[in-house]
Amino acid sequence: MAEDLNITTSTNKAEQYRSLLPQIEALLTGEPDLIANLANVCAALKEQFKWFWVGFYLVKGNELVLGPFQGPVACTRIGLGRGVCGAAWQQEKTLIVPDVDAFPCHIACSSLSKSEIVLPFFNDGKVVGVLDVDSSELDEFDDTDAVYLQQIIELVNFK
Ligand code: SME
Repeated sequence: MAEDLNITTSTNKAEQYRSLLPQIEALLTGEPDLIANLANVCAALKEQFKWFWVGFYLVKGNELVLGPFQGPVACTRIGLGRGVCGAAWQQEKTLIVPDVDAFPCHIACSSLSKSEIVLPFFNDGKVVGVLDVDSSELDEFDDTDAVYLQQIIELVNFK
């Protein structure tokens, strides 16, 4: 496919995701390389939503290690249970944090990040990484984001 993204001007979040989903699916189709695919997912999400930071951390040994991302430089390694990312990994569930300053042990890669959503993803029943999205606005993320971001990561083959 052409590598141009069609950015919808709709201000409805669900509509934005619905416009993006088939385009991400097309971007991933036929490409087996995980890093290439994660990089394009980040770029597509960042381009549509203009969030402060969008990126992946991948489980390597007993740590999450920074993977493809869009946004300012970020911490490279996160231990199990540390920060929102490490907590989502440990608890094996999506975490929505409306105010990162109120989250115990939040890892502040940037003081500009105000709210966050982290989704773990799995291979053979084990967490193999997380998708982390940060906003410079408080209370940016809700169940709509959780549902559609989940659909997006399910398009990726993490094997
Ligand atoms: N804030 C995250 C760390 C990663 S950066 O936000 C990119 C956390 O608490 O896990």
